[in-house]
Amino acid sequence: MSVAIHAEHDLSGANTLGLPCLAEHFAAPRDLGELREALTEGRVQGWPLTLLGGGSNLILPQRLPGLVIQPAMDRWWVEAGAGDTVRVTAEAGVGWHDLVMALAERGLWGTENLALIPGHCGAAPIQNIGAYGVELGEVLESVHLLHLDDGHEAVLRAGECGFGYRDSIFKRELSGRVVIVRLVLRLSRTPRPRLDYGDLASRVVKKPTPMAVARAVCAVRREKLPDPAELSNAGSFFHNPVVPAELAQRLLDEYPALPHFSQADGRVKLAAAWLIDQCGLKGWREGHFGVHDRQALVLVHFGGGSAVELLAFAERIIERVQARFGVTLQREPRLIAP
Ligand code: EPU
Repeated sequence: MSVAIHAEHDLSGANTLGLPCLAEHFAAPRDLGELREALTEGRVQGWPLTLLGGGSNLILPQRLPGLVIQPAMDRWWVEAGAGDTVRVTAEAGVGWHDLVMALAERGLWGTENLALIPGHCGAAPIQNIGAYGVELGEVLESVHLLHLDDGHEAVLRAGECGFGYRDSIFKRELSGRVVIVRLVLRLSRTPRPRLDYGDLASRVVKKPTPMAVARAVCAVRREKLPDPAELSNAGSFFHNPVVPAELAQRLLDEYPALPHFSQADGRVKLAAAWLIDQCGLKGWREGHFGVHDRQALVLVHFGGGSAVELLAFAERIIERVQARFGVTLQREPRLIAP
């Protein structure tokens, strides 16, 4: 066997929330052959399987029994597509932000608004990463995956991925059944800047280029979002709630300043950060966790805490928002049960 399987592997530095976690067994396969070997070994040994991407959207328990696999295949390449389009194939272990910057450097349009999102390419379709008016689903051509039951490979076109706001088939029907091995993106050489979100347009002062937009997005994010290398966090800890139009209207009658966005299905998306902020919780700290003082949707870990404490802290926020607005916030990071 060429893939290394490590026993009692420390994952504390491999999750951006900085939660202490020890994996019973751990493998980081560098190609498809090694991935298959690790999966087979896990099956033979009867180990429960946990798949890890960049660890930026996870809540890990103190001990993870079984086998944790973190795909480390990290090649990517560019091919000419139809017309002015370009196809970019990226393996699961490629760092998302590094890829975005490399594509912006080449003057390719499509992913620049998604700069500085932490994590690996393989995890990007799971929650359909999105920021500053663009979602992955809009630039994705297909997802290549491996089925865990019999190891067969399959390709899903973007239209088959069931993408929605922070949602996809990988969170639902295919949850726990597949490993994403690579993505194919479709980018464009023709300028198509997307600057309609917030004050993005005013930050791209010169002629927009993919790099100028990516840099502006990085600047906005750095102003509001804590860098996990300095302060542990998993980005947005809650989804923006999508509520029935009647509830949104009742809330808007009482709180006209509530940021809201009408959805195609008639429902209305509300800004969870605003709801938390209005409850006076921005900057609130208790024990080892806190609400970030510049973005109320981000929970931060000051060190020394655990998943159990974090979930209890989040629960108190959910209760406060529920009591004041009648809206139930849903957690965004995936909870890995021991
Ligand atoms: N707001 C507040 N208080 C705050 C922060 C924001 O009242 O502390 C208000 C803002 O004034 C604004 C609204 O809430 O009107 C929305 O805020 P923002 O533009 O910062 O975006 P968001 O809805 O809070 C979402 C994503 C982010 C993404 C940004 C930009 C979710 C759960 N989060 O946040 O994604 O970067 O939009 O597109 O959809 C992530 O997923 O980790 C993430 C950071």
